[in-house]
Amino acid sequence: MRADAIVIGVAKGTKGPELAPGAEAVDEAFGGKLAAILETLGASGGDGEVTKVPSPEALKSPLVLAVGLGDAPGEGGSFALETLRKAAGTAARGLVGLKKAAFALPLANAAAAEAVAEGALLGAYAFTVYQQDGNGDGKAPLAEVALTGTKPRDKAYKAAAERATAVAEEVNRARDLINTPPNDLHPKSFAALVQVAAKTHGLKVEVLDEKALAKAGYGGILGVGQGSANPPRLVKVSYVSPKAKKSLAFVGKGITYDSGGISLKPAGHNETMKCDMSGAAAVFAAVVAASRLGLPVTVTGWLALAENMPGGRATRPGDVLKMYSGKTVEVLNTDAEGRLVLADALARASEEKPDAIVDVATLTGAMVLALGNRTFGIMSNDDDFRNAVHATATEAGELSWPMPLPPELRKGMDSPTADIANMGERMGGGLVAGLFLKEFVGEGITWAHLDIAGPAFHEGAPFGYTPKGGTGSAVRTLVRLAEKHAEDGLL
Ligand code: BES
Ligand code: MN
Ligand code: ZN
Repeated sequence: MRADAIVIGVAKGTKGPELAPGAEAVDEAFGGKLAAILETLGASGGDGEVTKVPSPEALKSPLVLAVGLGDAPGEGGSFALETLRKAAGTAARGLVGLKKAAFALPLANAAAAEAVAEGALLGAYAFTVYQQDGNGDGKAPLAEVALTGTKPRDKAYKAAAERATAVAEEVNRARDLINTPPNDLHPKSFAALVQVAAKTHGLKVEVLDEKALAKAGYGGILGVGQGSANPPRLVKVSYVSPKAKKSLAFVGKGITYDSGGISLKPAGHNETMKCDMSGAAAVFAAVVAASRLGLPVTVTGWLALAENMPGGRATRPGDVLKMYSGKTVEVLNTDAEGRLVLADALARASEEKPDAIVDVATLTGAMVLALGNRTFGIMSNDDDFRNAVHATATEAGELSWPMPLPPELRKGMDSPTADIANMGERMGGGLVAGLFLKEFVGEGITWAHLDIAGPAFHEGAPFGYTPKGGTGSAVRTLVRLAEKHAEDGLL
């Protein structure tokens, strides 16, 4: 295969770096000495390591990139899918500026091929729309990914390549939305983008503007949005499967910018708050992915879009909002806005009686303190469902952890004036937010809440297939949930 580079895997063996399966032909071109050459260059096969070697003439690609896979699996074992995904992503990032790379990584089966393709396409992501010289150094990301060692005519491999492409492109769609600056991505422009994509992908869209929201009594979404010159929207975007009666609803927090409102965030806490619509971006991307994959399940996305700004008409701490569900909420802190827009969307989504609702939100700093920057928290009104969502996220390659909803935290939200306050005890703040949401989920509906405040936006150096900025957290989990529900394996 002709390519600008060929990617091989190198593992940590007991006596130094070991070539991973898939690299045989490349090693042959080096006269069987590639492992020794890599060791001379200082390679160990450690996780995330990249070593570049110029090719001998026998190879059709001028460059060989060896990517570390960590410890070699034992006799008869194979590399974990997430190891392959990460390694492919690391390799793709190491090949910026090149056009085409051939990935000769260990492919024990179609699932491994899918992981390599997904990791490579996710790792090759860059957000360069606002840079005149591409990504800052004038180099475009790797443009084309090819896999060696697959059987192109084998149905399983073909399906794997198609799924990897759809899923990775939709994760990248979410990343683009998150990275788009908030002066360009506000509720109205977000809703317009959904309408454009809906045409391409055969989705149904309904957009409620501020007038329609007022008429129907969406006090939470309106209350959060009323301080901004950019009015709020509620977008319903659905993929209706002609084949299935099964249904899921996904609800996304879509605060296109979170200044905190009148309870203004201090400097140092608002620079990345364009990421506060990551939940809505994930939900939208997952609905498109479900359509592209033709899953036999109806998936309805609810995007609760608002900009949280201080202003003469902004909600004040002390105001009481009448929510879509009819409940009243005393707003004690306008920076606890996510739960207000989600409460309305959850109540509305519940009316359609889906088999289950999953909401996704960059909801609390407390969840970041609890679980760090790479793991999202899962809360639910059903222990089995929470465990199923956790298992599904793990399958999809996303880090998550089950969190409780301790009932005793509810009384901290008692309000002397309204049915509930939008704030409670500081301790366990992520769980308090989850308990607030729970009150707006319709009676008898299975529900889970993913707090992605930690992993949604990556401020550190890129690693594996994770770039700087928007990560597309939860998209892969939502897609996998829809697949499993379609296969009857979720509820
Ligand atoms: N959008 C923030 C949560 C957040 C924090 C997301 C860090 C991503 C990174 C949310 O609206 C918020 O401000 N939450 C408050 C709630 C508090 C006022 C009860 C928080 O976590 O401090
Ligand atoms: Mn906030
Ligand atoms: Zn917020």
